[in-house]
Amino acid sequence: MPQFRLDYATPPEWVMQVERDLPCLLSDHAHCELKAAASAQTLIVRNPRKDALVRELAAVAIEELAHFQLVVKELERRGGRLEFAQPSPYAEGLQSAAGGDAPDKLLDRLLISHLIELRSLERFHLLSEHLADAELAALYRGLMASEAGHQALFVRLAKELFDPQLVDRREAVLRAREGALMARLGFDGRMHCGIAEAQGAR
Ligand SMILES: [Fe+2]
Ligand SMILES: [Fe+2]
Repeated sequence: MPQFRLDYATPPEWVMQVERDLPCLLSDHAHCELKAAASAQTLIVRNPRKDALVRELAAVAIEELAHFQLVVKELERRGGRLEFAQPSPYAEGLQSAAGGDAPDKLLDRLLISHLIELRSLERFHLLSEHLADAELAALYRGLMASEAGHQALFVRLAKELFDPQLVDRREAVLRAREGALMARLGFDGRMHCGIAEAQGAR
């Protein structure tokens, strides 16, 4: 089993909890892909003079939109439909966890994107290993290479634009906050939720 550089490891029981309502998981997952595409585009809008960032994040935005299409197609194939997006306690918690001590706002945005991609990769891996539904497990396995590339890209961009030692120090701070946040999130059947209390032992 690969080790992900995260401070909280999701227990495999989380898969048993989300697989009770796959349309809910898939609709939320589709919105995650859409938000990832939008956030890559926002980074481009705010940093038009950073050529490598513009080029690489345009490619990310295209890939995330393709993932969105794939997930919606899978959702519809299963008789579900895309629901309205719900507020995300994870994304909101991460933004406020970054807090007022950011050495640089762009650095924090890149590192938060890295952590979201890495957490998604961890969840896709768990789903690929433990879902009873083999077809859906294969879909998640198929998405892993792309998300592994994205999580690495955000750190690489950060290290091209900022002092690599500063990047490492800030990454450790934000990683700890992401882990603490994930450990206390409740269960709501979504991609970035916590685990239900009754089975919440780590
Ligand atoms: Fe994606
Ligand atoms: Fe991604």
